Amino acid sequence: MLRITSIEEYHSEYKKSIDNPEQFWAEKAEQFYWQKKWDEVLRWNFDEPKIEWFVGGKLNITENCLDRHLPTRANQIAYYWEPNNPNEKAIELTYQQLYEQVCKFSNVLKNNDAKKGDRICIYMPMIPELTIAVLACARIGAIHSVVFGGFSATSLSGRIQDCDCNIVITSDGGYRGAKDIPMKQVVDEALELCPSVKKVVVVERTKTPITMLEGRDIFWSNEMQNASVNCPAEIMDAEDFLFILYTSGSTGKPKGVVHTCGGYMVYTHYSFQNVFQYNEGEVYWCTADIGWITGHSYIVYAPLLAGATSVIFEGVPTYPNAGRFWEIIDKYNVNIFYTAPTAIRALEAAGVDFVKPYKLNSLRILGSVGEPINEEAWNWYNEHIGKYNCPIVDTWWQTETGGILISPLAGITKTKPCFATLPLPGIQPVLVDEKGNEIKGNGVEGNLCVKFPWPSIIRTTYGDNERCKQNYFATYPNLYFTGDGCKRDDDGYYRITGRVDDVMNISGHRIGTAEVESAINMHIDIVESAVVGYQHDIKGQGIYAYVICVNKQKDVEMLRKEILAEVTKTIGAIAKPDKIQIVSGLPKTRSGKIMRRILRKVAEGELHNLGDISTLLDPSVVEEIKLGVIK
Ligand code: WTA
Repeated sequence: MLRITSIEEYHSEYKKSIDNPEQFWAEKAEQFYWQKKWDEVLRWNFDEPKIEWFVGGKLNITENCLDRHLPTRANQIAYYWEPNNPNEKAIELTYQQLYEQVCKFSNVLKNNDAKKGDRICIYMPMIPELTIAVLACARIGAIHSVVFGGFSATSLSGRIQDCDCNIVITSDGGYRGAKDIPMKQVVDEALELCPSVKKVVVVERTKTPITMLEGRDIFWSNEMQNASVNCPAEIMDAEDFLFILYTSGSTGKPKGVVHTCGGYMVYTHYSFQNVFQYNEGEVYWCTADIGWITGHSYIVYAPLLAGATSVIFEGVPTYPNAGRFWEIIDKYNVNIFYTAPTAIRALEAAGVDFVKPYKLNSLRILGSVGEPINEEAWNWYNEHIGKYNCPIVDTWWQTETGGILISPLAGITKTKPCFATLPLPGIQPVLVDEKGNEIKGNGVEGNLCVKFPWPSIIRTTYGDNERCKQNYFATYPNLYFTGDGCKRDDDGYYRITGRVDDVMNISGHRIGTAEVESAINMHIDIVESAVVGYQHDIKGQGIYAYVICVNKQKDVEMLRKEILAEVTKTIGAIAKPDKIQIVSGLPKTRSGKIMRRILRKVAEGELHNLGDISTLLDPSVVEEIKLGVIK
């Protein structure tokens, strides 16, 4: 059975998935088109780690996303594309048209020497060509590495270098709200440090003037003109890499999370069907950017695997005004709407007058993802958007998990505000204490781990399996550690409380404190900095930076501006600190470790209850920091 239809069925399916995971997942995998069936369902150890699903199976995920549907849904819409500017013409792509575009672009890539196993970087705005580029890579067996369009040239070049991409696919620019975002220009700057890149394919979106480097840069439209629509899919091993997606951790540079073809396909599809309870003919809309995992799994792959009709939106929720999401829902009669708490809070703050003109009566199910949803936002979503009629699925998962692990199944699991509720079948969460002892029973809290693999679990971090081990499998032996804190209440429901490591969640974007610190430290006058997240009404978390400046004559406002520019240049505007406090010292222990716990409390305005500070090398710095705190 693929689709669970009642809570009793959920419990019995869950039990089956634990008693016999291999049989359970083999059944789910059966319905796909495999060029060769697997020899063994699962081989794994969390020690190296080495995890393999559907060992020996051969497939191409795009045949399952596209070719498989053509006999029955060639003329069904796969994507409605809604442009940033509501007056510009929208685009519809049927399954047949999408298939043809993907095949053509696959041939463009091949004509430009792309081969199976090559890494191809995609740096694009939310236009239909982005989805086509992703699928074309998968079709020819190239590994895509999509980099979110908000990242800077420095970030982009780091990601291109890390996995040695030979092709970059981009556009001249992109539209986001009232802004035109340069993209090709950023790529040009990034490529000064990337000798591996031989070709750059450019989509013309904004017609912004750009420079084209002879021999390297080519236009998408020219290349597509004569490309053939016939492109047989490359035969892939179930464990061949499908994509790399860079994400932030608590230390060092962002790491390339690797997902593979077979398991990722089976799990994203299964989770989509069950969490969203998608019915044939419905319209589904996920507002994420394809540059993040939510877009990969729940805009590109899972909806196509399910033969769904989706909306892709180029713009932002507040342009031309804060009614845009609601207008789009009415325009396309969206039935299932999946967005992030930060968007909900921003639209709540704009006021219900922006919601009132719209009927929203097509909506059946609402989803939330990316960060803990606070009760007020949950209630507002439920009342004003769902009209108390739409179950809210608060979906918890991560780049590394590939798909949703803990979430209500819409209309089946009884929801509770702020709770991701219960694990999906196949997922075995455990809470552990600091020492790694499992905390059993209900009404408890601990660090969230998973003790058994599921098909779309991270396989490795690109080029560095040891790092994968250290990050996820070494903290607690034989467990996958999520980095999140979590409560399990008396009903056995899970509530994610947020990161327990040095990863911040800013408007649903994962950013490591260490990354922001090293960007700030690039400033010539800064000798040291410490960055923490603090509670922010709209963004969920804001970034608070404490900096030590050596130049005592420096104008403070100027310094702040320069720091923001430095961070924008090194990472991107999404990582700009909200508050910057200049300090003469940081609270350090005698062994030189910064006590972030204290800095976090000060940033949150908790000035009186800082806990034990007696182990500090110089407790007086705390007094100074408290006096200068920025409200
Ligand atoms: C957080 C996004 C609470 C969590 C899919 C996780 C959430 C990190 C939720 C992963 C949720 C995501 N409730 N917290 N429903 N969903 N998170 O890799 O801290 O961008 O570890 O994946 O976001 O972020 P990532």
